[in-house]
Amino acid sequence: MGGLDYVLGSDFQSNIAAQSLRWDKEWMRYLSIHRDYNFYFYDMDTPSYALTVGASRIASFTCKETYSVKLFKTQAAQVWAPGSALVGKTVLEMGCGPGMFGRMASRFVGRFIGIDASLFALHIARLTSPKNCEYVHLGDAEKIGALRGVADTCVGRNFFIHHNYTDSIWILRLLKDVLAPGGIISADFYYNPGRVGEPRRYTAADPLDGEHASALYHFEEEDILGLAGECGLEVASTEKQPHLERHFATFRRLE
Ligand SMILES: C[S@@+](CC[C@H](N)C(=O)[O-])C[C@H]1O[C@@H](n2cnc3c(N)ncnc32)[C@H](O)[C@@H]1O
Repeated sequence: MGGLDYVLGSDFQSNIAAQSLRWDKEWMRYLSIHRDYNFYFYDMDTPSYALTVGASRIASFTCKETYSVKLFKTQAAQVWAPGSALVGKTVLEMGCGPGMFGRMASRFVGRFIGIDASLFALHIARLTSPKNCEYVHLGDAEKIGALRGVADTCVGRNFFIHHNYTDSIWILRLLKDVLAPGGIISADFYYNPGRVGEPRRYTAADPLDGEHASALYHFEEEDILGLAGECGLEVASTEKQPHLERHFATFRRLE
């Protein structure tokens, strides 16, 4: 199971409308709970909004610096990757949502491609992003099929946290297929051992929560190593950041 062939197959494609609806509804819930979500609708389809940092500075950033840098107003990048893996590169964000990262990153990456399960989120992404951002729905088999081997860097931003071990296998196998030779995958798994067992907080091995799309799945080191083995990937690095509730992992393709 897994990879582009799996995602392009009839079983996956016949289920994607239901997945889209599930995440469309989740976005409606996010947008209705009275948090400060103004930036979700912030229209950056204009050359007049400059970022707070230039491309050459971003290119020198460590993963930690990239993650925390405020790229535009209060909006942090929240992507765990060295700046050199982003600036001028083809960057693919899995689970891009309404294009929060894409509309900023498109100012310093070479090509930005966002994939998402939610048509609703992608509609906002396309409305608010510069035209050089490309957004692809998982159900658009033609466009998904054209992504084989194109991405220098695949990133998850607030994305892997919502996927358990089994779900992460097909996702990582798909990203492996869209990676260019020498490319990397940056995954942001959830990490908080003390909260497992609370509502909507599970171990990586638990089944997906059928009710709550944004449930969180705690990943230990052995889960990440296990995933790499199942997906034919090498773990280049892992980094626990308990205060961020994240366990970041960088994978490379085993050639
Ligand atoms: C918490 S949101 C993060 C959105 C964005 N990355 C950000 O940081 O603002 C998770 C996103 O992943 C998308 N998603 C969930 N499962 C997915 C899957 N299997 N493939 C692609 N996108 C998925 C959801 O529709 C949602 O937009």
